[in-house]
Amino acid sequence: MQTRFFTQKLLEWNAGENTRQMPWKGEKDPYKIWLSEVILQQTRVEQGLAYYERFVDAFPRVADLAAAQDDRVFKLWEGLGYYSRCKNLLQTARYIAGELQGRFPDTYQDILGLKGVGSYTASAIASFAFGLPHAVVDGNVLRVLSRFFGIDTPIDTTEGRSVLTALADQCLDKDDPAAYNQALMDFGAVVCKPVRPACDTCPFKSRCVALKQEKVDLLPIKSKR
Ligand code: ADE
Repeated sequence: MQTRFFTQKLLEWNAGENTRQMPWKGEKDPYKIWLSEVILQQTRVEQGLAYYERFVDAFPRVADLAAAQDDRVFKLWEGLGYYSRCKNLLQTARYIAGELQGRFPDTYQDILGLKGVGSYTASAIASFAFGLPHAVVDGNVLRVLSRFFGIDTPIDTTEGRSVLTALADQCLDKDDPAAYNQALMDFGAVVCKPVRPACDTCPFKSRCVALKQEKVDLLPIKSKR
């Protein structure tokens, strides 16, 4: 019941009020989605934008990245840090271009098998590029769900992860996993923010457990710190 309300309100918010624009939004090319998601793994959207644009301009297809000189790719990555991401990017591009004839893997398991791709990135690629029903679960999603459903199990414990992953799967809109996942990321970034969330205008305010219990600023709970 609550999950239905959550999904419906999120989709309504997305269709009506979500004005967030990003160059990878609505993108269907798995290569470009992968590129954007790897850049965003440890980088804020505002910083990642210019890098994404430069990479897509320099290497429009996976074969272009695969054929590039290492130094040119590392030069373009400069400033983003976490260079293992860049190494994996190149290695994976060459694997796809060489071993997979340039065809990006199109199942969740095969995407997850790519170097540098964890469950979050695999879900993002699987849903955005192929419409597969995999819910993304990152810090934004954990915060939004913890607050709305009033989950006070710490999110950095096995139990917390499993409760929230189950909720995330239940809430996922199976008809349009791509739009749902992107909407949830956007919602966490612009409404249900870590600090000073916009509860006054929030579409969930009538049923948000954290708001009702005055726990918005306390959730999500982390055990370690
Ligand atoms: N962070 C990771 N992936 C993202 C995406 N697709 N949109 C916005 N922020 C993100």
